[in-house]
Amino acid sequence: MTRSADQWATPPNLPPDHYISSLVYSDPEIFREEQEKIFKKSWKLACHESEVAAPGDYRTMTFAGTPLVVIRGMDRKIRCFVNVCSHRSALVARGPSGNARTLTCFFHLWEYDTKGACIAMTRDLGFKECGPSREEMGLRAVRCETRLGMVFINLDDSAESLDAYLGPSFELIEEVMGTRDLEVFHYHQVEMRANWKQWHETNMEDYHNWGHVVNRTTGMQAKGHFERKWILYPNGHGSIDPMKIDYSRYKGWQDRQDQNLPGLRPGELRVVDLFPNTTIIVRATCIRIDTSTPIGPSHTLLEYRGLGIKGEPAAERALRVRNHNQFWGPFGRNLVEDVVFVEAVEECNRDGAAKYSVVSRREEMKAQDDALLRHFHGEWSKRMGRPASNPVNQMAIAAE
Ligand code: FES
Ligand SMILES: [Fe+2]
Repeated sequence: MTRSADQWATPPNLPPDHYISSLVYSDPEIFREEQEKIFKKSWKLACHESEVAAPGDYRTMTFAGTPLVVIRGMDRKIRCFVNVCSHRSALVARGPSGNARTLTCFFHLWEYDTKGACIAMTRDLGFKECGPSREEMGLRAVRCETRLGMVFINLDDSAESLDAYLGPSFELIEEVMGTRDLEVFHYHQVEMRANWKQWHETNMEDYHNWGHVVNRTTGMQAKGHFERKWILYPNGHGSIDPMKIDYSRYKGWQDRQDQNLPGLRPGELRVVDLFPNTTIIVRATCIRIDTSTPIGPSHTLLEYRGLGIKGEPAAERALRVRNHNQFWGPFGRNLVEDVVFVEAVEECNRDGAAKYSVVSRREEMKAQDDALLRHFHGEWSKRMGRPASNPVNQMAIAAE
C-alpha cells in the first residue's frame, strides 16, 4: 500500500529511539550546533604516531572549523596546537605535513618552537613600548594524548580525560594494536557528498552487508556471522563479537593464514566504533582506521588509514598491502560501495524528500540488530539536547 503526503510526513509508529528524522542529516542549524556541542567537546582521532615519526614531523588538519597542527617535539613528545599565528592570525604550518625544527609564520616571520612557545618576533624593538612580550604570544595548546599509537586531540580544556571517554572500548584491540609498533602504510581521502553521521552509521550497522557483493560472499558466509552480539560501551562507542572469515570464498583471493596481527586467529575480524566519527577495523593481517570529518551538512571528508607492522620486510608488507587494498583500497571491493550507498541516501535527504529513517531492527543484540545505531543516536541526542527522532523539539530532552 502506498502512502499519501501526510502519511509520508507522519513519524513512524515506533518507539522514538527506533527512527531518525532526516533533518539531523541536512539542517544547517543542527550542523552548526553539532560543531559546538559535539566536535568542539569530544576526543577525536587526529593521526597515527607513525605519521609524525621523527622530531619536527608535523601534520595539519582542520577540525570543527579550527586549523590544527600536530607536531612531534625535539623531546619526541607529540603535541597539538591551534595552527593560528598569535600576531595577525595567519596559518603557521602550511601544507598537509612536513618537518621543521621550529615553525615560522610566513607572513611576518614570527617563530615558534615545537613546544608552541614564541621564540622570535621579527624586529621586536617595535613591541618594546606597548608589548606584547614573546612570553605572552605562545600558540594555543590543544589537549593531545596517544593510545595504542593513535593520537587523539580535544579542543575543550575542561572535557573529561581520554581514558574516561574511551572507557573499556579498546578491550578487543588492546593486544592487536598494543603488542608491536605499527605504522600507516596507506592513506587516502574522499570528499563525500553526504552527512558525516551517515558514513559512521554504515560502520555501525551490519544489516547493510547485504549490499556488499564481497561481504555476501565472504563474511556473511562465515560460521556464526549472524549470531555475534553487539557490545555497547559508555559514551556512544561500540563493538561486536569477533569472527573468522574465509577470504578464499571470493574468487581469486586467498585465506589469511599467515602474518595475522597479535592475538588474532587466522582470518579474524574485529571492529571498534568510537563516537562521534572513528572506526577501527582489523581484518587479520591489516588494520583500517577511518574518520568522517564534517565540512558542511552534506559534505564530509573521509580519511582512510591502513596499518601494518612497523619496519617489516618488504615481502611481508606486500602481503598486508594486498590484503588491505583488496577490500579497502580506493579500487577495493568494499569501501567504495559504502560511499555510493550513503550518497544515495543524501540525495533523498538534501531537500527534504526523505522524512524519517528506520533503525528498529531487534535481534536480541545479534549482528543485524540496530542496537549500536540506537546507542550512537542516544549519545548524539544527549549531547545535542535534541532527540534524533524529532530534533526541532529541543525542550523534550532538556526537560527530562
Ligand atoms: S601573522 Fe604571523 S607573523 Fe604576522
Ligand atoms: Fe560497508
